[in-house]
Amino acid sequence: MRIITTAGEMRRTVEERRSAGETVGLVPTMGFFHRGHISLMRVARHECGFVVVSLFVNPTQFAPGEDLEDYPRDLSRDVEMASEAGVDCIFHPRVEEMYPEPYLTYVAVEGITERLCGAARPGHFRGVATVVAKLFNIIPAHRAYFGLKDAQQVQVIRKMARDLDFDIHIVACPTVREEDGLAMSSRNIYLEAKEREATTVLYRSLRLAERLVAQGERDAAKITEGMRALIAQEPLVQPEYIEAVDWELLAPVQRLRGQVLFALAARVGKARLIDNVLVEVED
Ligand code: PAF
Repeated sequence: MRIITTAGEMRRTVEERRSAGETVGLVPTMGFFHRGHISLMRVARHECGFVVVSLFVNPTQFAPGEDLEDYPRDLSRDVEMASEAGVDCIFHPRVEEMYPEPYLTYVAVEGITERLCGAARPGHFRGVATVVAKLFNIIPAHRAYFGLKDAQQVQVIRKMARDLDFDIHIVACPTVREEDGLAMSSRNIYLEAKEREATTVLYRSLRLAERLVAQGERDAAKITEGMRALIAQEPLVQPEYIEAVDWELLAPVQRLRGQVLFALAARVGKARLIDNVLVEVED
């Protein structure tokens, strides 16, 4: 497995593979791999002839005061795990390579970035869209793989790719969970034992939403109120938002219809956790 650090070498390598007729898959990451990342790499490995994983803790998606400095990093472990997953190449640029001074150009996706996590983290999706657009230019892949735990991110990137005519297929892969339902996240490492136990309420609240929908409830507020009441039983879990939104534009819904995303974010100790379920609602 090769490790490439410069944009020029990375682009040349991918262009050679494309000229040789190979399908190129990209898995963008910020490293500190867990089973969620590995599942994306395995799907990419299965579908593509050449698999690149980008590993870059992107400073522009962190607001001042967020965990950029503390974000967990372990390059040698990541290299070993990616190699075991059959990845061909890791792109691991330095900050100066991605954002040469003076850096002045950003990508802003409007509307859908203003709700859910976008409301709590202004500027976050501008940073995500900017770095992903740059990665799509540096690594002209046929397919790019993202996890549905970050459902809003998936929709923002789909919209950005469509609006800016990137010739790339965005593949959304299922959330990978711990046995008790906690969605895999690099930030789970911040949780202390008691906090870790308390987090199970998040997935339980999403399962409750699924159950209520299956029982015929179509009033979004009744379902989110039920979720809120359940989460309130865990004082260590402080919800930031609990919402039902439509899957295309992530606009709040009152009456459930079609594809609806139940999404939540909560603070648990030092960690900010997000999770969601997507339900298909019949009339
Ligand atoms: O999901 C992530 O790890 C990041 O937001 C991404 C897509 C790699 C952009 O930095």
